[in-house]
Amino acid sequence: MSGSCKLFLSSGLFLISFKMIISASTGFTVSIYDVTSRTVSLRWPKFPDAFSYRVMATPVNTLGHSLLAHFSDVTLVGTLSSLAPNTIYSVMVDAIDKNGIILAEAQIMQLTAPEIPMIDQAYSKLSSSITVEWAAVSGASSYLLTAQDGEMFIETIVTNSPGTVTGLKAATLYKITIRSINTGGRSQSSPSKKAKTVLAAPVMIANSPSYNNIVVNWNAVYMAVGFSVSIMRSDGLGSMLKENTTNNSLAFSSLDPGTLYTIKVYAWDINGIPGDDFTYNQRTRPLAPGDVQVVFDSGSLGAIVSCMPAEGASSYSIAAYSNTSKWNFTSTSTSCTVSSLECGAEYSLTVVASNEAGSSVPTEAVIFKTAPCAPESITIEEKEPGNLAVSWSDVDLSDYYVAFVKSDDGLEVHCNTSCTQCLFQSDCGFTYFISVFAYNKAGQSPLGDIFNYTTAPCCPSNFSPVFVSSNTVQIIWSPVRGAEMYETKAVAQTSELLCNDTATTCTFSALQCNTQYNITVYSFSEIRGSNMSCEPKQVTTAPCSPEILNISKDTLSIISVHWHASSDGAMYTVTVKGEAGRWHCTSSGNSCSIHNLPCGSLFFINVVATTEAGYSLPSYSVPLETDPCCPADLSVTQVTQSVANISWSSGTGAKTYIAILESHKRQASCHTPQTSCLLGCITCGTDYTVTVKAVSETGLGSDCIYKRFSSSACCPSGVKLYRLGNNSIRIYWRSSKESINYSTDLYGSKRNFTCISTGALTYCDITEIPCGDVYMVAVSPLIDRNRSKLAFCPKKMYSGKNLKGTATVKKMRQHIWGNKNVHIYINHVRLILKTCQ
Ligand SMILES: *[C@@H]1O[C@H](CO)[C@@H](O)[C@H](O)[C@H]1NC(C)=O
Ligand SMILES: *[C@@H]1O[C@H](CO)[C@@H](O)[C@H](O)[C@H]1NC(C)=O
Ligand SMILES: *[C@@H]1O[C@H](CO)[C@@H](O)[C@H](O)[C@H]1NC(C)=O
Ligand SMILES: *[C@@H]1O[C@H](CO)[C@@H](O)[C@H](O)[C@H]1NC(C)=O
Ligand SMILES: *[C@@H]1O[C@H](CO)[C@@H](O)[C@H](O)[C@H]1NC(C)=O
Ligand SMILES: *[C@@H]1O[C@H](CO)[C@@H](O)[C@H](O)[C@H]1NC(C)=O
Ligand SMILES: *[C@@H]1O[C@H](CO)[C@@H](O)[C@H](O)[C@H]1NC(C)=O
Ligand SMILES: *[C@@H]1O[C@H](CO)[C@@H](O)[C@H](O)[C@H]1NC(C)=O
Ligand SMILES: *[C@@H]1O[C@H](CO)[C@@H](O)[C@H](O)[C@H]1NC(C)=O
Ligand SMILES: *[C@@H]1O[C@H](CO)[C@@H](O)[C@H](O)[C@H]1NC(C)=O
Ligand SMILES: *[C@@H]1O[C@H](CO)[C@@H](O)[C@H](O)[C@H]1NC(C)=O
Ligand SMILES: *[C@@H]1O[C@H](CO)[C@@H](O)[C@H](O)[C@H]1NC(C)=O
Repeated sequence: MSGSCKLFLSSGLFLISFKMIISASTGFTVSIYDVTSRTVSLRWPKFPDAFSYRVMATPVNTLGHSLLAHFSDVTLVGTLSSLAPNTIYSVMVDAIDKNGIILAEAQIMQLTAPEIPMIDQAYSKLSSSITVEWAAVSGASSYLLTAQDGEMFIETIVTNSPGTVTGLKAATLYKITIRSINTGGRSQSSPSKKAKTVLAAPVMIANSPSYNNIVVNWNAVYMAVGFSVSIMRSDGLGSMLKENTTNNSLAFSSLDPGTLYTIKVYAWDINGIPGDDFTYNQRTRPLAPGDVQVVFDSGSLGAIVSCMPAEGASSYSIAAYSNTSKWNFTSTSTSCTVSSLECGAEYSLTVVASNEAGSSVPTEAVIFKTAPCAPESITIEEKEPGNLAVSWSDVDLSDYYVAFVKSDDGLEVHCNTSCTQCLFQSDCGFTYFISVFAYNKAGQSPLGDIFNYTTAPCCPSNFSPVFVSSNTVQIIWSPVRGAEMYETKAVAQTSELLCNDTATTCTFSALQCNTQYNITVYSFSEIRGSNMSCEPKQVTTAPCSPEILNISKDTLSIISVHWHASSDGAMYTVTVKGEAGRWHCTSSGNSCSIHNLPCGSLFFINVVATTEAGYSLPSYSVPLETDPCCPADLSVTQVTQSVANISWSSGTGAKTYIAILESHKRQASCHTPQTSCLLGCITCGTDYTVTVKAVSETGLGSDCIYKRFSSSACCPSGVKLYRLGNNSIRIYWRSSKESINYSTDLYGSKRNFTCISTGALTYCDITEIPCGDVYMVAVSPLIDRNRSKLAFCPKKMYSGKNLKGTATVKKMRQHIWGNKNVHIYINHVRLILKTCQ
């Protein structure tokens, strides 16, 4: 079929090109303006001088006779009829003049339309269409179906039977015709058939007023006399319900809840012919969900609401309301979390299941109470130190309260009460954070304000005042909780000292002596002020420094120190201190004595008062000098008959000495820094008293030693020498006193001679004196029971020449140091004291 169609098209192309060549040669053309199964209508232009036109159609490729027609010169169109359908004709038009001569010629190829088809039947299955059946005609490539309703045509081209005309009105009578079509053109219309479209479908809406009902409504349908409605579950379960009605609505009951139903409705006409269907899917509403539960989320104002799922429900709506608030929530889940409920409220809660059909009836209301609101008006009082009273206002719907008290070191305590007050123990220096919660069965109230309370700072206690000097006390303590500053007070009866510092130490100086101070360290915090209950510590300052009034030397070896005693109950210690050592005496009175201080020393004396509180400052020192020490020994030697040498050992502390030689008649003395001195004017054979006084640098003197001293016997006077004969001499003298023994000594360079005379003898003889020598002769009294002799009696020179007794006078002069007044002259007869006192 498609192959022949292709061939046909190519031969058509060939014909067109052929026609163009003809036209080009003469400028005369022919065109076709209508073709049917048996006719071809042509048009050509007027050709000059043409008298008539001749048209001839000859079938191409098939046997058959040609058709010929003539047209006058005014006729420029012509129709050839009685042609064979579906046949290619070669159509030739000749322009002929009056002489019968062909002036011009044009040719065209044309296929005739196929045979007219015949309608077998026409009927309507749908309200908008009519279906037509016919027998196929040869050469037809398609068919044109026409439905006519009064003035209105509706055409449809179809390729084969049966064909359907659509876009028709429902319940309407139509006249139906058909034409066949090929490339050449269209056949004439077939004889018509009448057909009526069926009734239109009713337009239906349905709804489910409750979980087991569906109500359907539809509109009226033109020409309808009744309606048929059917319903069945869309999932095919169960049976179908069918009902006929003339009404425009219908209600189905006893349906399954939440189930999708498929509903069909159609109308029928007076002949009972059913019209178009209308299908509608409708779901029934769900049942109310069961078993609604509310579980509180403790601690927050939230709850979890859950229920059993309802068949066919697509969402669940939870609505809750209290006296003052409303709340709702929709979810696809059967459980949902409700948050931000009002505290302390009674709620009524219902759940509704919904689907596209609508909502179920609400469940029975669940009444519940939310957790109580946070307690308000919280007050914190520290009625007495160590006890915090926390109180709050009563809260609706609460069963009991728990108050939490957390100290800033993290420790937390709580109290559980149904009253509105709790007592807590508190410590000094802490900050407590306090929160109160109310509870009921629904749980805990939300967190309200957190209050804080700072207790008074603690008191520093582990301190002890330490005297760093007798009038300065230092206090060091450990820092205590809560203290921002310390105020340290030292209070005495008449005065007060104060230290304000953040440091944990304070020093009070210039304290009064012998005074009791109450020292208190108060801690201070800005929020609570000072902790005034801090305990004082008592300190007593050291006694006042005593004052030495006088020092008396009671006897030689005892001194007494007197002071001004100003501190009650003090013990006084006197210290005597010097290079010689230290001495002490103590007394609770105002004087004490020291015995046996060494002589000749310088001391400093002070007094210190002592009490339990300590030592006073020492008094100012008073110097004390003891009398110089006496020389330990004293000796007196006679240097000459009238001069004695007094010598002594040195005494400690003595700077000078006064030596005194005293007889009942006279006295001689010397004052010397030395430890000896010469004293003249002694008379021989006299008893003396010798005294030495030691004198210190400051003039302090001590009477020391008394010694008795007797001067020696006098040297003889009138010594004379007489030659007795052969180398012997007699020596004479005058005795100063009777019954004294004398020793006569002769000193020579070769030999010495001694002669002792006893009794009343006043001469002595010495024999066998070698001559030619010079001798010194001395006559001295024997002393100390004749055991020694005086050494200082004058000596006489003797030589052989002057043996007759003429003595050579020798003059000796002696200057004695220390006593310019004493000059001693010695000649051969006597000693002359030039000056004597
Ligand atoms: C409803 O009407 C149609 C057409 O008249 C008929 O065929 C059918 O049996 C009827 N059904 C019922 C349930 O009446
Ligand atoms: C049609 O249905 C409506 C509502 O269901 C009802 O009120 C009415 O009476 C019915 N009419 C007939 C003719 O059944
Ligand atoms: C809330 O309602 C309850 C009972 O209906 C009532 O007793 C209560 O006073 C109401 N509360 C408020 C704040 O209105
Ligand atoms: C849910 O709440 C919204 C506003 O919060 C309100 O418009 C709506 O009507 C409520 N729905 C129900 C079922 O209460
Ligand atoms: C407080 O007491 C109630 C009952 O007396 C008890 O149920 C609750 O657990 C207690 N709460 C605390 C925090 O101790
Ligand atoms: C304590 O409470 C006061 C006032 O309520 C607030 O200003 C202060 O910051 C709080 N202190 C602490 C440590 O939270
Ligand atoms: C002051 O401190 C003491 C001891 O540290 C403490 O016991 C007392 O509670 C404090 N005083 C006050 C008013 O808190
Ligand atoms: C010191 O404290 C004691 C006891 O605390 C008190 O008896 C005494 O009067 C106080 N002395 C002074 C000077 O305040
Ligand atoms: C010490 O501090 C206290 C508390 O701040 C104050 O009252 C007092 O005046 C201060 N004293 C001195 C001497 O600064
Ligand atoms: C020393 O002082 C005391 C007390 O004042 C007095 O009794 C005594 O007489 C005084 N002694 C002398 C030597 O002044
Ligand atoms: C006196 O005697 C002392 C001690 O024997 C002696 O050292 C001193 O020189 C003597 N003085 C004179 C002037 O002889
Ligand atoms: C004589 O005596 C003197 C003094 O005692 C002495 O110095 C001297 O040596 C003596 N001469 C002789 C010869 O013994």
